[in-house]
Amino acid sequence: MTSLAASIVVLTILHLIQAQENEIVKAMLLNEVIPDVLDEGPKEVLKVTFDNGAKVNMGNELTPTQVQNQPHVEWDSEEGAYYTLLMTEPDAPSRADKSVGEWQHWLVGNIAGNDVAKGTLLSGYQGSGPMLGTGLHRYVYLLFKQPHQLEFDEKFSPNTTTEGRPLFSTRKFMKKYNLETPIAGNFYEAQYDEIAGVLLAQLGF
Ligand SMILES: *[C@@H]1O[C@H](CO)[C@@H](O)[C@H](O)[C@H]1NC(C)=O
Repeated sequence: MTSLAASIVVLTILHLIQAQENEIVKAMLLNEVIPDVLDEGPKEVLKVTFDNGAKVNMGNELTPTQVQNQPHVEWDSEEGAYYTLLMTEPDAPSRADKSVGEWQHWLVGNIAGNDVAKGTLLSGYQGSGPMLGTGLHRYVYLLFKQPHQLEFDEKFSPNTTTEGRPLFSTRKFMKKYNLETPIAGNFYEAQYDEIAGVLLAQLGF
């Protein structure tokens, strides 16, 4: 075997191993989070859990009722590193009509370590509020490792307003702040229920 052939074999094997290990990328490709939100998927599954026991799990279906309150997000952080946490929804107003997507649901920057509460809250947590009859929407959690502490120029958006939420672009945000492929991510899907109706009313829909 030539050395070129040998390296092709080695690379192919490495590629297969990586493809097998990376469940989150597979799930994102299958559900088109890649390419609808990202070009490249994260290596790790981000742990997102709610007080009521619900868990985000690579495209599982959760109800707006289950995800109404801010979840706990956990990851292994590096000493001295800063992170940005984003929750975004490409499917606004629906997966078939993404004309106001992405809808940005939650954004926290400059998280030193992994204590989300100590980061800079840029957008307060908005639960899932898919409109009646619009089917399943995808809600994507992404964790970015920042190159350094950042100065964000986004205006703070409380969770009861739509300001700064529609027409968000994860790609543009990454570019603006020099963020690389997220290090961890996860996503779920949700469709309308009564709580979605309550949230939509809070937002004036
Ligand atoms: C805003 O946050 C409050 C407190 O956590 C919550 O009760 C409310 O449902 C949230 N509103 C939206 C639109 O998510």
